[in-house]
Amino acid sequence: MYKFVLICFFSLISTLINAQEMTSPNGQLSMTFKLGANGTPTYQLSYKKKPVIKSSTLGIETVDVASFTTSFEILKVEKNTVDENWNPVMGEQKTIRNNYNELLVKLIQKDQKNRTMFIRFRLFNDGLGFRYEFPKQENLKYFTIKEENTEFNLAGDHKTFWIPGDYDSNEYAYTTSKLSEIPGLMKKATIDIHAQQPIKNLAIQTPSMMKTDDGLYINIHEASLINYPAMALNVDATNFKLSSHLCPDPMGNKGYMQTDTHTPWRTIVVSDKATEILASKLILNLNDPTAYTDVSWIKPVKYIGVWWEYFVAGKSTWAYSNENNVKMGDDFSKLAPSGKHGATTQNVKKYVDFAAANGFDAVLVEGWNVGWEDWFGNWKEDVFDFVTPYPDFDVKELHRYAASKGVKIMMHHETSGSATNYERRLDTAFKFMADNGYNAVKTGYVGKIIPRGEHHDSQWMVNHYINVAKTAAKYKIMVNSHEAVRPTGLNRTYPNWIAQESARGTEFEAMGGLAPEHTTILPFTRLMGGPMDYTPGILQTELSYYGTGSSQKVNTTLVKQLAYYVTMYSPLQMAADMPENYTRYADAFQFIKDVAIDWDDTYILEAEPGDYITIARKAKNKNEWFVGGITDENSRTANITFNYLPKGKKYEATIYADGKDASWNKNAQSYTVRKVSITSTSKLKQVLGAGGGVAISIKESDAKSLNGK
Ligand code: NOJ
Ligand code: CA
Repeated sequence: MYKFVLICFFSLISTLINAQEMTSPNGQLSMTFKLGANGTPTYQLSYKKKPVIKSSTLGIETVDVASFTTSFEILKVEKNTVDENWNPVMGEQKTIRNNYNELLVKLIQKDQKNRTMFIRFRLFNDGLGFRYEFPKQENLKYFTIKEENTEFNLAGDHKTFWIPGDYDSNEYAYTTSKLSEIPGLMKKATIDIHAQQPIKNLAIQTPSMMKTDDGLYINIHEASLINYPAMALNVDATNFKLSSHLCPDPMGNKGYMQTDTHTPWRTIVVSDKATEILASKLILNLNDPTAYTDVSWIKPVKYIGVWWEYFVAGKSTWAYSNENNVKMGDDFSKLAPSGKHGATTQNVKKYVDFAAANGFDAVLVEGWNVGWEDWFGNWKEDVFDFVTPYPDFDVKELHRYAASKGVKIMMHHETSGSATNYERRLDTAFKFMADNGYNAVKTGYVGKIIPRGEHHDSQWMVNHYINVAKTAAKYKIMVNSHEAVRPTGLNRTYPNWIAQESARGTEFEAMGGLAPEHTTILPFTRLMGGPMDYTPGILQTELSYYGTGSSQKVNTTLVKQLAYYVTMYSPLQMAADMPENYTRYADAFQFIKDVAIDWDDTYILEAEPGDYITIARKAKNKNEWFVGGITDENSRTANITFNYLPKGKKYEATIYADGKDASWNKNAQSYTVRKVSITSTSKLKQVLGAGGGVAISIKESDAKSLNGK
């Protein structure tokens, strides 16, 4: 008996020592860190007393030294609280609050010559972030990662919005299913034209969005992915357990580390309100403040481009000729032009004229440089040199012409996945841009990566994208990357990395179509990591219009395309349709001309992943507000409130609505535009067609005209 009491006493003491608890500033979230059997670090998380993450192990397996998985003891624990505000260079709101409680657990492996590993937890009101840290120390300098063993042991068979794990592509359609159904659906979900390296064991990508049966929303992703591979999540569909799966390099290794160092943050955003998931700034808060001292040259960009005509109109191509075996250094003026080249001086001038007449900042020109004849699918290292234009594209003349109209030409650097070639030419390419008046570049990584064997998501490539952003900054150039690793909030640290694609974007409307629900999921998944160059604004949704024999449709109403400017946050927004279509739908186009792309504030009015989203935003430094609402394949009535407008004033709201008969697959281009007078207490019930939307621009009513009423 005496012995038993003694054992109980000691185990209680050791639990007390080994268990560390912390709550969020508002007390709704609580977490526990505990050393489990064999000194294995574990954590758990609950929200309003409901389990979010049940006891889950933490650790890192290594190739060359003993693993960081067991035999830990707690050396020291430090606690801290932070509550501060900061202002992003561009963003959904002018001021962001960073408020968390922090727990730093310093662990020691006495049986490994006293090696230490720290785990830093930050608990916010909207979720948890944690990372592994390896301080500089005598007996640990370098190590190679075999796998990170972070578990997310979920409390039930949650509904999950997921895309298959893939080391090279995020351009999948979403599947919505229970966790337990993922194995049965994986094969179907993986069929995709851009899937390049689906992960062999069962895995899904982050940000992964889940909803529990009792209405909790849980989002798992990562923040500040630097010098480390991206994380996918292995799925244990029987035990509802997710676990980290890092992207390997050609040797199969998953990260080369040198102390002093740390991993990216693992993030779990939680709320019982879907609107709060969209409002969360946890991922940005976990990124470092901007690394640049001068950010005055980083500006929002609204642009058009020689682009959509390549996808739908059948009239033009990136390539200049029909030759299909070209080499860098060839004399392209000797090739017979196909007559279909899109990036001609003359055609670009038309776009520049349109941009100037309608207030756009820039014109993206794709297909301006030599090499497009055999750029795709050949795993060729030297495809583009980024400085040699096709014979019919006059760089100097276009620079002069665009500058005279106050418009920028946006550079395009498609690398065809050859990052080695791009890195070698980066300085020359950016200098060429600076010399010719370009201040923004769209980069692209279509195809298999070179160095061969690396992946879009591997540590080498993660460092490459950051190197591109940092080098671009030296030349005051903004970067919009396509096919790069999914974003993790690094737009805070490197704000010139202004936007990314890293998901299935509008181009797929011309390549088989997107499900009407796709864009009700993206803000809960891909956009949690950062702004997306979704390329909205297709007003000619019926693609048979072009007479190319295609019966394809853009699977939205025309008005839903307008709403995207508000629901898909990005300080870089394209009006992706062709100028002639904007001229034909001038009254609807007015919204795209007016809409702001940088904001003082954001109000998430309604949201449910997979179903609908309604957002209102206030323009940066302007008394103008914009509302966007979208729905999936079901028609719905949006309940739009205006209580964010200053009280006691009258406002004019211009409402762009789906026509009565409009839906994504019938009469999609039917719409109405009406003006109404509103105040902060007004309420609007607006019907959205199936696959439809609503867009509203709001201005203070002119005092004089009000007096006259
Ligand atoms: C894929 C990009 O997403 C698209 O926008 C671009 O036009 C092509 N690659 C060619 O670079
Ligand atoms: Ca793409």
